Amino acid sequence: MNDTVAVILAAGKSTRMHSSFSKVLHKIYGKSMLEYLLDDVRSIGIKRGFVIINSSNGIKKKIILPRGFRIVQQTKLLGTGHALRQAAAALGRFKGDILVLYGDTPLLTVETLRNLLAKHHVSDAACTLLTTTVKEPTGYGRIVRDEKSDVIKIVEEADASLYEKMIHEINAGAYCFQAGEIFRILPLLKRKGAKREYYLTDAIELLAKHRARIDSIHTDNPDEAIGVNSRLDLARAQTLAKSRILTDLMRQGVGIIDPATTHIYNDVTIDQDTIIYPFTVIESNVRIGRKCRIGPFARIRPRTVIGDNVEIGNFVEIVRSSVGSGTVIRHRCYLGDARIGSNVNIGAGTTTANYENARAHTTTIGNNAWIGSGTVLIAPVSIGKAAETAPGSIIAKNTAVAAGSFVGGIPAKVIKKKGRA
Ligand code: UD1
Ligand code: MG
Repeated sequence: MNDTVAVILAAGKSTRMHSSFSKVLHKIYGKSMLEYLLDDVRSIGIKRGFVIINSSNGIKKKIILPRGFRIVQQTKLLGTGHALRQAAAALGRFKGDILVLYGDTPLLTVETLRNLLAKHHVSDAACTLLTTTVKEPTGYGRIVRDEKSDVIKIVEEADASLYEKMIHEINAGAYCFQAGEIFRILPLLKRKGAKREYYLTDAIELLAKHRARIDSIHTDNPDEAIGVNSRLDLARAQTLAKSRILTDLMRQGVGIIDPATTHIYNDVTIDQDTIIYPFTVIESNVRIGRKCRIGPFARIRPRTVIGDNVEIGNFVEIVRSSVGSGTVIRHRCYLGDARIGSNVNIGAGTTTANYENARAHTTTIGNNAWIGSGTVLIAPVSIGKAAETAPGSIIAKNTAVAAGSFVGGIPAKVIKKKGRA
């Protein structure tokens, strides 16, 4: 889609969020709102884009933009219309279409954005915008149509008449503009409202008055249009995103006993017939195999890979680790930076002491090993295949427990050279 560029407006002050950094950096299940939008625009085939930011809102440091995307500064925060104007210089004489998105609408679906672009391309309108109908429209721009049902303007809450406030069709904040048309209109916007801002939404009325064609598409799913302005909106968006993630997993054959208390982040893959028990949190960048039982009350953190038929029970935390197939970790453990083989038994209360001087060290546990309850493994440490540790052992750092041996004590010593081998 070489003739369409994306412009994501993300320079706002985030006043209503009461946060020290931009609201678009706030994460929903491991992914910032801005990343949701960047992923979406790339999924619909847009290869070039601009993110409008303000130097003070932290985005430059926190986000690595995909290839083809650039940052454009809006130094004075004078509203959404002014924000889009900043892209004009960067776009030069660009004659194609501009997909404008607001950085605080993370749940727009790829399907809807595709439909928006498709409608824009067939109708040849100067602007095609996305609308939806909500029960509670307060705070959103209302879509005003004429007797032929054509969009003639968007009116913001602060400027809406009593009659306009009763309109439930709202501006979802996603537009496709012909570049020439919108850049002709933007300089005509006037500053408005208590904040004396240039509203991008006023461009619609101006375009209509200049006899440019305005088209729209309507999504019947108002949830995807949520604009996240406050912490309350963020919590609502989180609930909606959670339901989307869990629904996808269940459709792929993952059992989720209690969706209300299960939190699975973006970028998690779970194979068929694995069951997730209540009160479980699985963070981004985790991969879980088939027929596992995870939880209740388990927390699996990033960079963890779990094989098939693994059991991870209550109050187990695992991070940056791999767990081989058939391994059982049933109760109360902390395993960090651990390479755990297959068919291992990790006893209750096993702990990897993985950090020393702010550096993480690795614990390696071979196939068929048996780690007795309450074992503390001071990394770096390795436990050989089919080796066994006695309950309550402390395995000192740099220890390499030989395959098949049985060790125990504080610090652990060899009790039997060929224990379970
Ligand atoms: C905006 C729309 C409203 C729509 C709603 C959908 C306007 C005037 N109003 O209202 O019609 O229903 O979104 O969610 O456009 N931003 C900048 N620079 C600025 C100001 C804002 O980049 O100077 C960015 C913000 O970071 C944000 C986006 O633009 O990501 C939208 O701004 P916001 O203040 O959230 O607008 P709303 O009041 O939600
Ligand atoms: Mg908003």
